[in-house]
Amino acid sequence: MEFSTKAGGPEKHKTGCVAVGVFEQQRATEALKALDRPAKGYLSSILRRGDLSGKLGSTLWLHNVPGVAAERVLLVGLGKEPDFGPKAFRETVRAAVRAINDSGTSDAILYFAEVPVSDHDAAWNGLQLVQVAGEASYRFDRLKSDKDGRPRRVKFAAGFLGNPSPSVVRALQRGTALAQGVSLAKDLGNLPSNICTPTYLATQAQQLAKQHKLSCRVLDEKDMRKLGMGALLAVTKAAHEPAKLIVLEYRGGPSKQKPVALIGKGITFDTGGISLKPSGEMDEMKYDMSGAGSVLGTFKAIAQMRLQVNVVGIIPSCENMPGGHATKPGDIVTSMSGQTVEILNTDAEGRLILCDALTYAERFDPSTVVDIATLTGACVIALGGVASGLYANDDRLAAELFEAGQQAWDRAWHMPLWDDYQEQIKSPFADMANIGGRPAGSVTAACFLSRYARKFKWAHLDVAGTAWLSGKDKGSTGRPVPLLTTFLMRRADRT
Ligand code: BES
Ligand code: MN
Ligand code: ZN
Repeated sequence: MEFSTKAGGPEKHKTGCVAVGVFEQQRATEALKALDRPAKGYLSSILRRGDLSGKLGSTLWLHNVPGVAAERVLLVGLGKEPDFGPKAFRETVRAAVRAINDSGTSDAILYFAEVPVSDHDAAWNGLQLVQVAGEASYRFDRLKSDKDGRPRRVKFAAGFLGNPSPSVVRALQRGTALAQGVSLAKDLGNLPSNICTPTYLATQAQQLAKQHKLSCRVLDEKDMRKLGMGALLAVTKAAHEPAKLIVLEYRGGPSKQKPVALIGKGITFDTGGISLKPSGEMDEMKYDMSGAGSVLGTFKAIAQMRLQVNVVGIIPSCENMPGGHATKPGDIVTSMSGQTVEILNTDAEGRLILCDALTYAERFDPSTVVDIATLTGACVIALGGVASGLYANDDRLAAELFEAGQQAWDRAWHMPLWDDYQEQIKSPFADMANIGGRPAGSVTAACFLSRYARKFKWAHLDVAGTAWLSGKDKGSTGRPVPLLTTFLMRRADRT
């Protein structure tokens, strides 16, 4: 998506469309007033007739408005003025961009960045404007022969009555980078498992590394065997697709600064293995690599922003398949850490690949490790599609990620990791079992991971409910790329 900046009177721009907001009860925004003056009250007269309620997300197209150079004016309802918060701002931009993408225009200037949002600064508006516009313009049609009959791509610009400050200009650039990161994560998620294999993820990482001067290393099963990754190898055992461990490094910060490690679950398809899943909606298990996709998307975003941080990405990737060679319930394996695991359910495979990746992360001496995983159906039951589950062995890190999620409007909720839950994953035969029964299923999965994260500050994001949408709007959401990128932006700006 292209996004530029336009300053000065909205009536002067020769463009296909200018979009301006109006609150309920005909309360005009500054941008609307600026259009209404040269139009000699034409816009306010239309509002007085009641043709646009101002209800949040409602739209009205006007053509050939007198005194206005643009071909069209799009009026967008902002809802009640006192209620205009982050959610309303995002809904406004989404409604405008959808209407514009469905119209005949090939370019448009959006005048929303200067509408004040309670408790948020102008830079927040700028970044969100670009990011939400990018998300609302996203399409995944590369596997259709008829590309929705919409080859046209609208060129968007952010309009400002005055001149945007340097911090706003930077926010617009960051928003563009973030939108591209989200788009990459969505593409990888939406690709089916016959295309998006562990090998495909590895080549995508290598391409990203080439484009942005990152370093990338891909370990194969032989390497993993040497490292003693018995847990990861137990998951891939019956798969014909070879497993990969992808390692990406972005060094934008001071060379002595310890890196943040991001670990993404990369199960490119989760059948459940011998503990086979039921067939209904099993197609959605192609999204079980969304954690991996979010790591690649975040790398894309931060590399384009040239953030001053050091980040290592670690992606354990394989398929979870049944078969004659498959791991069977009751099998006991030794993880890279030396701890043994009784695999009581082969469908609890995410934690098995992540535990070895967590141990592998130790060699980078990270200041912080965050893993991202579509880990449990129980998390979907607990938090639905609104918040990701957030666990941490350090309360300050949890608070930092929570805040980043709030700012990005990609929210996570802090869940408990109390020792009491560790009881549930005791095994009579091994150091631990890989399942803890139905109660608190998302918590016990996090407890399992915590046993491999004793050497660093660590957080875990369970994105099982937030990484994709089901039903008629089925598709990857690109979450939690906004949260992770914002977390790293805040770290970069702090130092
Ligand atoms: N990838 C799934 C988790 C999942 C399920 C995410 C449904 C989104 C929707 C994970 O590998 C899994 O199968 N987890 C099991 C764990 C159980 C066997 C302890 C689950 O949640 O049912
Ligand atoms: Mn599973
Ligand atoms: Zn899974």
